[in-house]
This record gives sequence, C-alpha cells and structure tokens, in this order.
Amino acid sequence: MRKLLISVGCIAPLGGLLFGYCTAVISGALLFLENTFSLTTLQQEMLVSIILIGALIGAGFAGTLSDRIGRKPVIMLSDVFILIGGITLISADHLFTLLFGRLITGVGVGIASLTVPLYIAELSPPKRRGALVTLNQLAITIGILLGYLIGLFETDTGNWRLMFGFAIIPAIIQFVGMIFLPESPTYLAMNGQIAEAKKLFKKIRSREDTDRLIKKLKTGQEKADFAALFQKAMVPALVIGLGLSILQQITGINTVIYYANQIFGLAGFGTAKAAIWASVGVGIVNVLTTIVSVWLLDRSGRRPLLIIGMAGMTVGLLVLSLTFWLQIPAESYLSVISLMVYVASFAIGIGPVAWLIISEVYPHRIRGRAMSLAIFANWTANYIVSLTFLTLIEWLTSSGAFLFYAIICAYALYFVWRRVPETKGKTLEEIEGFWKKRKKA
Ligand code: BGC
Repeated sequence: MRKLLISVGCIAPLGGLLFGYCTAVISGALLFLENTFSLTTLQQEMLVSIILIGALIGAGFAGTLSDRIGRKPVIMLSDVFILIGGITLISADHLFTLLFGRLITGVGVGIASLTVPLYIAELSPPKRRGALVTLNQLAITIGILLGYLIGLFETDTGNWRLMFGFAIIPAIIQFVGMIFLPESPTYLAMNGQIAEAKKLFKKIRSREDTDRLIKKLKTGQEKADFAALFQKAMVPALVIGLGLSILQQITGINTVIYYANQIFGLAGFGTAKAAIWASVGVGIVNVLTTIVSVWLLDRSGRRPLLIIGMAGMTVGLLVLSLTFWLQIPAESYLSVISLMVYVASFAIGIGPVAWLIISEVYPHRIRGRAMSLAIFANWTANYIVSLTFLTLIEWLTSSGAFLFYAIICAYALYFVWRRVPETKGKTLEEIEGFWKKRKKA
C-alpha cells in the first residue's frame, strides 16, 4: 500500500503543478509579450483570461468522460492538451497563435483540475484522504510560486518562450508515470471489473469494508441504494459542492494571485521589482500554509479549518480595506501583513477544503459528472472575478473593493458554519450514508 500511495502521491499532483504554473506564469511573461507583439490592454486581458475559458470547457466535459472511459486515461488526456498548448505557445509568432495556445493549455488544466482530486480521493485510505487529496492543492501553490519565480529570473533575458515551454516537462513526466499507475478501484467496480477493484480496495481500506462493498455490488443492492440516495440527497450535496466551489473564487483569492504586483503597486511600493518580490512573498506564504493544512486536515477535520480560515480571510480583508481607506503608507507594512493573513487563511481553509469536499460528498455513480458541474462553476466564477477586479477598483476604490470581498467572506463563513458536514476519516460510502440519515432526521 505504501508504494502505491507514494507513486500516486508523486505522479497525480503534477496535474496541480501544471494548473498553478500555467495560470501564474502569464504575469511574468506578459511584460515581454507586450513589447514583442505591441499588445493593447484588451489583448493583454484576453491573454490572461482565455486560459480560464479553456479550463471551464475542460472541466465541463472531463467528468462525463472520466465516468465513461476511466479516470486514468482522462488524466493522460490533460497532459496531451498541455503538451499541444505548450508547443503552440513556444512557436507562436502571432497574437492569434498565442491565444490559441493558452486556450488549449486551459482545456488541459481544466481536465486535470477535476480528474486529479477525483482519482486521488478514490485511491486513498479514508484516514489519509485529506492529506493525499490536498497534495494536489500543495502542487497548485508550488506551481504558482514557480510561475512567479521564473518570471523574476527571466526578467533580464525576457525569454517568454522558455517560460511557457517549461510546462511541457511535468506534462511528459505525468503522462509516462500514469502508464504505470492503476485505474481507480471505484471506476473499475462501477464497470463490472470487480476482481480488479477488489485487489485495490483491499490495499486501501479495511477487509470488512471491502467485503461489504463488494457484496453490495454483486447483489445489485448498491444500485438500489444509489437510486434511493439520488432522490433524497442530491440537492443538499449539490448545494454544498457548488456553494463551496463558487465561494472559493468569489471570496477573491485570484485578485491577489493574479494581480499581486498591481495591488502592491497601489499600496505604495515604489519600484516594480519591490512589488514582484512582495508577490513572491505571497507565493511562499501560500505554499507554507498549505503544507500546514496537509498536516492538519486528517487530524483536526475539515470543518474547523474551513471556519477558522474563513474568519481569517474576513479579518485580513477588513484590515486591508482599512489601510487603503486611511491611506496608511506602505512602509508600515500593514497592507502586506493583512494580505498575507488573507492568503494564509485561504491556504489553510477553503483553498484545499473546497477541492477535498467536492471529491468526497457525491455518490460514486455520479461523482465525475457532479464534480464537473462544481468545477465548471469554480472556473466560471474565477473568470468573472479576474475580469472585473480592476474595474471594481475603479468603481469602488481599492478600499471599497476589498470591503466588498470581505462582506462575501463573512457570508461564506455563515455558509460553511451552517451547511458543510465533517467528512474526516469516513469512507466515501459512509459520507453517502450521512446524507440519507440527515434527510430522514
Ligand atoms: C484555486 C485557484 C487559486 C489557488 C491559489 C486553488 O485552490 O482553485 O483558483 O489560484 O488555489 O492557491
């Protein structure tokens, strides 16, 4: 089992690394693309955001596809898209080719954002699932940091082709690595490959659990249970999955991840270099706090982290809004500290937990499709927030924009408090059972 978990834990999260890297690398590359292609503001905005359109398309079909042909080939398909996107970008000599390359890369990223947590969750022992699925979020944050760093180190050469091309390496490693990994046992069991599934289930859960599940599958009881569950529990499960996915984005994290340089500029950091370094600081805090979250999720549970994290995000944004309102000078570092508190609170709470919960709460017969819906909503919300942030600042001022996001965070705190169940240590089937019981009560 150890060997299996280590292999899955090393290869599958490369999808997260690509997710983070491809979305963040543009912030550094843009500087040089702007000069090479004489881009207008609108063209720059399109280059930043078109990856999100690709991702929502990818996430939209990845669920059905992974329910049909399996989780493993769909992860490999995401690598193919990222590879084609990368080659297109490296060889681009026209804005149109650049946009096309970013779109195709986005489709790959969207597919990976769904299939990786799904695959890891289905191959994890219940007691380790929190940490294992969150390795993907950790990889996302490392990818973001790498994206920032490569921008920083290539400042002198301006080699944007290399910046985009770097993504090809993890995509190839993952594609080859996946050949040697097994298919998800849940998918195998749903498709009648019970003997194969049993072998894997035995490695990751207790014997009684495995026997109970296999018996249910063989007698057809599992199908009957699912039909009953679907009628009774789909609505609350969908509300939670969609709610968390959308809240993860509309609480504003990517205003910081994508626009950190601009925010620090507005806060009074004089030089571009100082602002870029401050962004790297954001990236480091994001990675370090996610490591803490990997360690805590299976110990303290999901709910406490979500609640503490949401409270921290609200306070961080309120203070940030205040620093802009009172025009506290950047040298006081209050804006930097409040922004770091906000990012750390995201990284300990809704950042990883949103992905984790949506890979846990849905009944397995429709897990892929239901996740598609939630993740499609996540990318759509991401797109809207990223596209409107600078305009929001123009309308409401910086102080008003951050107050606006603080209010959304306060609502998110209420939502998680009222609705999100604790899923720590439960098998995915026990979580399904929770919905049944809750509905009856
Ligand atoms: C979110 C991304 C975000 C990243 C930041 C992920 O969980 O889905 O949109 O950029 O966290 O670490």
